[in-house]
Amino acid sequence: MKKIKKDIKIIRRKGLYYLMDENNRIKKYKPWLHSIFCFIYDRIMRESVFPKKFNGSYKRHIEILKREFKPVHKKEILEIGTGTGNLAKALQRDMFYTGLDISAGLLNIASSNFEKYCFPNIELFVADASDMPFKANSFDRAVCNLSLNFFPEKERFIKELSRVLKPGGVFFCSVPVPEKISKNARIKGNLLSEEDLKKLFQKYGFAFKPCNYENGALLYFYGRLFNLHYSQTNVVKFVDVGGFAGWMQATPH
Ligand SMILES: C[S@@+](CC[C@H](N)C(=O)[O-])C[C@H]1O[C@@H](n2cnc3c(N)ncnc32)[C@H](O)[C@@H]1O
Repeated sequence: MKKIKKDIKIIRRKGLYYLMDENNRIKKYKPWLHSIFCFIYDRIMRESVFPKKFNGSYKRHIEILKREFKPVHKKEILEIGTGTGNLAKALQRDMFYTGLDISAGLLNIASSNFEKYCFPNIELFVADASDMPFKANSFDRAVCNLSLNFFPEKERFIKELSRVLKPGGVFFCSVPVPEKISKNARIKGNLLSEEDLKKLFQKYGFAFKPCNYENGALLYFYGRLFNLHYSQTNVVKFVDVGGFAGWMQATPH
Protein backbone atom coordinates (compact mmCIF):
# COMPACT_ATOMS: atom_id res chain seq x y z
CA MET A 1 0.00 0.00 0.00
CA LYS A 2 1.52 3.23 -1.11
CA LYS A 3 0.76 5.43 1.90
CA ILE A 4 1.90 3.06 4.68
CA LYS A 5 5.22 3.82 6.42
CA LYS A 6 8.14 1.54 5.69
CA ASP A 7 8.59 -1.27 8.26
CA ILE A 8 4.96 -1.22 9.38
CA LYS A 9 3.29 -4.59 9.02
CA ILE A 10 -0.42 -4.66 8.44
CA ILE A 11 -3.00 -7.37 7.94
CA ARG A 12 -6.48 -7.14 6.41
CA ARG A 13 -9.35 -8.91 8.17
CA LYS A 14 -13.02 -8.60 7.19
CA GLY A 15 -12.55 -5.22 5.52
CA LEU A 16 -10.35 -3.59 8.22
CA TYR A 17 -6.57 -3.11 8.33
CA TYR A 18 -4.84 -4.02 11.59
CA LEU A 19 -1.26 -3.19 12.61
CA MET A 20 1.06 -5.99 13.74
CA ASP A 21 3.42 -5.76 16.72
CA GLU A 22 7.06 -6.97 16.85
CA ASN A 23 5.84 -10.50 17.65
CA ASN A 24 3.62 -10.53 14.58
CA ARG A 25 0.48 -10.27 16.68
CA ILE A 26 -2.33 -7.83 15.97
CA LYS A 27 -1.82 -4.65 18.02
CA LYS A 28 -4.52 -4.21 20.64
CA TYR A 29 -5.89 -0.91 21.92
CA LYS A 30 -7.84 -0.19 25.08
CA PRO A 31 -11.45 -0.15 23.83
CA TRP A 32 -13.08 3.27 23.86
CA LEU A 33 -16.53 1.71 23.77
CA HIS A 34 -17.12 -1.97 24.47
CA SER A 35 -18.03 -3.89 21.29
CA ILE A 36 -21.44 -4.90 22.64
CA PHE A 37 -22.47 -1.21 22.87
CA CYS A 38 -21.25 -0.17 19.41
CA PHE A 39 -24.62 -0.80 17.75
CA ILE A 40 -26.32 1.80 20.00
CA TYR A 41 -23.58 4.47 19.60
CA ASP A 42 -25.44 6.51 16.94
CA ARG A 43 -28.68 6.48 18.92
CA ILE A 44 -26.89 7.66 22.08
CA MET A 45 -25.26 10.53 20.15
CA ARG A 46 -28.53 11.60 18.49
CA GLU A 47 -30.90 11.21 21.40
CA SER A 48 -28.72 11.87 24.43
CA VAL A 49 -25.29 13.43 23.82
CA PHE A 50 -26.35 16.11 21.31
CA PRO A 51 -29.53 17.36 23.04
CA LYS A 52 -28.52 16.79 26.68
CA LYS A 53 -24.73 17.25 26.85
CA PHE A 54 -23.91 19.48 23.88
CA ASN A 55 -27.19 21.40 24.05
CA GLY A 56 -27.00 21.22 20.27
CA SER A 57 -28.58 19.50 17.28
CA TYR A 58 -27.34 16.34 15.58
CA LYS A 59 -29.29 17.28 12.43
CA ARG A 60 -27.52 20.64 12.30
CA HIS A 61 -24.16 18.93 12.83
CA ILE A 62 -24.72 16.71 9.77
CA GLU A 63 -25.92 19.75 7.77
CA ILE A 64 -22.67 21.57 8.67
CA LEU A 65 -20.58 18.60 7.53
CA LYS A 66 -22.54 18.40 4.27
CA ARG A 67 -22.03 22.10 3.67
CA GLU A 68 -18.28 21.85 4.28
CA PHE A 69 -17.67 18.72 2.24
CA LYS A 70 -20.13 19.11 -0.64
CA PRO A 71 -17.71 21.12 -2.82
CA VAL A 72 -14.72 18.82 -2.16
CA HIS A 73 -13.96 16.26 -4.86
CA LYS A 74 -11.29 13.68 -5.64
CA LYS A 75 -9.06 14.40 -2.65
CA GLU A 76 -7.16 12.04 -0.40
CA ILE A 77 -8.92 12.52 2.94
CA LEU A 78 -8.04 11.10 6.35
CA GLU A 79 -10.60 10.92 9.16
CA ILE A 80 -9.19 10.41 12.65
CA GLY A 81 -11.72 8.87 15.06
CA THR A 82 -14.02 7.56 12.32
CA GLY A 83 -16.47 5.90 14.72
CA THR A 84 -19.47 4.48 12.84
CA GLY A 85 -18.65 6.45 9.68
CA ASN A 86 -21.19 9.26 9.95
CA LEU A 87 -19.06 11.34 7.60
CA ALA A 88 -20.29 9.08 4.77
CA LYS A 89 -23.53 11.13 4.91
CA ALA A 90 -21.59 14.26 3.92
CA LEU A 91 -18.69 13.22 1.69
CA GLN A 92 -18.72 13.03 -2.09
CA ARG A 93 -18.38 9.49 -3.46
CA ASP A 94 -15.35 10.36 -5.58
CA MET A 95 -13.18 11.04 -2.50
CA PHE A 96 -10.33 8.70 -1.54
CA TYR A 97 -11.23 8.09 2.08
CA THR A 98 -8.98 6.68 4.82
CA GLY A 99 -10.49 6.19 8.28
CA LEU A 100 -8.61 5.51 11.51
CA ASP A 101 -9.97 4.54 14.93
CA ILE A 102 -8.89 2.44 17.91
CA SER A 103 -12.29 0.71 17.98
CA ALA A 104 -12.65 -2.22 15.55
CA GLY A 105 -16.29 -2.59 16.67
CA LEU A 106 -17.18 0.94 15.52
CA LEU A 107 -15.10 0.61 12.33
CA ASN A 108 -17.05 -2.53 11.39
CA ILE A 109 -20.21 -0.43 11.45
CA ALA A 110 -18.40 2.31 9.47
CA SER A 111 -17.45 -0.27 6.86
CA SER A 112 -21.14 -1.21 6.34
CA ASN A 113 -22.14 2.47 6.24
CA PHE A 114 -19.58 3.37 3.58
CA GLU A 115 -20.75 0.32 1.62
CA LYS A 116 -24.38 1.41 1.98
CA TYR A 117 -23.48 4.83 0.53
CA CYS A 118 -21.52 3.12 -2.30
CA PHE A 119 -18.04 4.58 -1.71
CA PRO A 120 -15.59 2.90 -4.09
CA ASN A 121 -12.38 4.14 -2.42
CA ILE A 122 -12.24 3.50 1.32
CA GLU A 123 -9.64 2.06 3.67
CA LEU A 124 -10.21 1.64 7.42
CA PHE A 125 -7.37 1.24 9.93
CA VAL A 126 -7.49 0.11 13.54
CA ALA A 127 -4.79 2.41 14.94
CA ASP A 128 -4.07 5.21 17.41
CA ALA A 129 -4.37 8.88 16.50
CA SER A 130 -1.06 9.68 18.20
CA ASP A 131 0.92 7.08 16.24
CA MET A 132 -0.40 6.87 12.71
CA PRO A 133 0.94 4.25 10.30
CA PHE A 134 0.99 6.61 7.30
CA LYS A 135 3.91 8.10 5.38
CA ALA A 136 4.55 11.86 5.56
CA ASN A 137 2.62 14.11 3.13
CA SER A 138 -0.04 11.51 2.36
CA PHE A 139 -3.29 13.47 2.61
CA ASP A 140 -4.86 16.62 1.09
CA ARG A 141 -7.50 16.88 3.79
CA ALA A 142 -8.05 15.60 7.32
CA VAL A 143 -11.10 15.67 9.54
CA CYS A 144 -11.84 14.87 13.17
CA ASN A 145 -15.43 14.97 14.41
CA LEU A 146 -16.34 14.82 18.10
CA SER A 147 -13.21 12.78 18.83
CA LEU A 148 -10.33 15.14 19.66
CA ASN A 149 -11.41 15.46 23.32
CA PHE A 150 -10.93 11.68 23.68
CA PHE A 151 -7.36 11.54 22.42
CA PRO A 152 -5.16 11.31 25.54
CA GLU A 153 -2.07 12.63 23.73
CA LYS A 154 -3.41 15.63 21.85
CA GLU A 155 -0.04 17.23 21.20
CA ARG A 156 1.37 14.00 19.75
CA PHE A 157 -1.73 13.71 17.60
CA ILE A 158 -1.36 17.26 16.22
CA LYS A 159 2.31 16.62 15.51
CA GLU A 160 1.36 13.43 13.65
CA LEU A 161 -1.33 15.32 11.77
CA SER A 162 1.21 17.90 10.61
CA ARG A 163 3.41 15.02 9.39
CA VAL A 164 0.79 13.11 7.38
CA LEU A 165 -0.93 16.15 5.83
CA LYS A 166 0.58 17.62 2.68
CA PRO A 167 1.89 21.18 3.02
CA GLY A 168 -1.09 23.44 2.37
CA GLY A 169 -3.44 20.63 3.44
CA VAL A 170 -6.55 21.49 5.42
CA PHE A 171 -7.89 20.00 8.65
CA PHE A 172 -11.53 20.40 9.73
CA CYS A 173 -12.59 19.66 13.29
CA SER A 174 -15.68 19.68 15.48
CA VAL A 175 -15.06 19.46 19.22
CA PRO A 176 -16.79 20.50 22.46
CA VAL A 177 -15.01 23.37 24.21
CA PRO A 178 -15.40 24.29 27.90
CA GLU A 179 -16.42 27.92 27.29
CA LYS A 180 -19.51 26.83 25.29
CA ILE A 181 -20.75 24.12 27.66
CA SER A 182 -23.93 24.84 29.60
CA LYS A 183 -23.55 24.82 33.38
CA ASN A 184 -24.92 21.40 34.32
CA ALA A 185 -23.62 19.38 31.37
CA ARG A 186 -20.73 17.00 32.02
CA ILE A 187 -18.92 16.12 28.82
CA LYS A 188 -16.50 13.20 28.72
CA GLY A 189 -12.88 13.49 27.67
CA ASN A 190 -10.27 16.13 28.24
CA LEU A 191 -11.53 19.45 26.90
CA LEU A 192 -9.31 22.27 25.64
CA SER A 193 -10.48 25.84 25.14
CA GLU A 194 -10.47 27.46 21.71
CA GLU A 195 -7.45 29.53 22.76
CA ASP A 196 -5.48 26.44 23.87
CA LEU A 197 -6.36 24.60 20.66
CA LYS A 198 -5.22 27.58 18.63
CA LYS A 199 -1.86 27.69 20.43
CA LEU A 200 -1.27 23.96 19.96
CA PHE A 201 -2.15 23.99 16.27
CA GLN A 202 -0.02 27.06 15.61
CA LYS A 203 2.90 25.37 17.40
CA TYR A 204 2.86 22.64 14.74
CA GLY A 205 2.67 24.96 11.73
CA PHE A 206 -1.08 25.36 11.27
CA ALA A 207 -2.99 28.56 10.71
CA PHE A 208 -6.08 28.29 12.91
CA LYS A 209 -9.51 29.58 11.97
CA PRO A 210 -12.75 29.07 13.93
CA CYS A 211 -15.93 28.76 11.82
CA ASN A 212 -19.06 30.82 12.47
CA TYR A 213 -21.35 27.84 13.05
CA GLU A 214 -23.27 27.81 16.33
CA ASN A 215 -24.24 24.38 17.65
CA GLY A 216 -24.31 24.25 21.46
CA ALA A 217 -21.01 23.25 23.07
CA LEU A 218 -19.34 22.52 19.74
CA LEU A 219 -16.56 24.54 18.17
CA TYR A 220 -15.98 24.00 14.44
CA PHE A 221 -12.59 25.09 13.18
CA TYR A 222 -10.04 24.76 10.38
CA GLY A 223 -6.31 24.29 10.54
CA ARG A 224 -4.26 24.87 7.42
CA LEU A 225 -0.76 23.54 7.30
CA PHE A 226 1.91 25.76 5.85
CA ASN A 227 5.34 24.96 4.53
CA LEU A 228 7.88 25.27 7.31
CA HIS A 229 9.49 28.27 5.66
CA TYR A 230 6.18 30.11 5.98
CA SER A 231 6.80 32.53 8.84
CA GLN A 232 4.36 33.23 11.65
CA THR A 233 4.02 36.83 10.40
CA ASN A 234 2.91 35.57 7.02
CA VAL A 235 0.38 33.22 8.62
CA VAL A 236 -1.14 36.12 10.54
CA LYS A 237 -1.21 38.24 7.38
CA PHE A 238 -2.92 35.41 5.51
CA VAL A 239 -5.65 35.24 8.17
CA ASP A 240 -6.12 39.01 8.23
CA VAL A 241 -6.73 39.34 4.52
CA GLY A 242 -9.50 36.76 4.68
CA GLY A 243 -7.43 34.06 3.03
CA PHE A 244 -9.58 31.34 4.58
CA ALA A 245 -12.46 31.56 2.13
CA GLY A 246 -13.04 28.25 0.39
CA TRP A 247 -10.50 26.36 2.48
CA MET A 248 -11.90 22.95 1.92
CA GLN A 249 -11.64 23.41 -1.84
CA ALA A 250 -8.08 24.78 -1.76
CA THR A 251 -5.33 22.84 -3.46
CA PRO A 252 -2.30 21.87 -1.35
CA HIS A 253 0.92 23.42 -2.57
C1 LIG B 1 -17.52 10.39 20.11
S1 LIG B 1 -16.79 9.28 18.98
C2 LIG B 1 -16.91 10.18 17.43
C3 LIG B 1 -17.02 9.26 16.26
C4 LIG B 1 -17.37 9.89 14.92
N1 LIG B 1 -16.32 10.75 14.44
C5 LIG B 1 -18.68 10.61 14.94
O1 LIG B 1 -18.72 11.80 14.56
O2 LIG B 1 -19.69 10.01 15.30
C6 LIG B 1 -15.07 9.30 19.37
C7 LIG B 1 -14.27 8.33 18.52
O3 LIG B 1 -12.87 8.52 18.80
C8 LIG B 1 -12.25 7.23 18.82
N2 LIG B 1 -10.99 7.32 19.58
C9 LIG B 1 -10.83 7.55 20.91
N3 LIG B 1 -9.52 7.59 21.23
C10 LIG B 1 -8.83 7.38 20.07
C11 LIG B 1 -7.43 7.30 19.74
N4 LIG B 1 -6.49 7.46 20.68
N5 LIG B 1 -7.09 7.08 18.46
C12 LIG B 1 -8.04 6.93 17.49
N6 LIG B 1 -9.38 6.98 17.75
C13 LIG B 1 -9.77 7.20 19.01
C14 LIG B 1 -13.30 6.36 19.47
O4 LIG B 1 -13.08 4.97 19.27
C15 LIG B 1 -14.58 6.87 18.81
O5 LIG B 1 -14.83 6.23 17.61
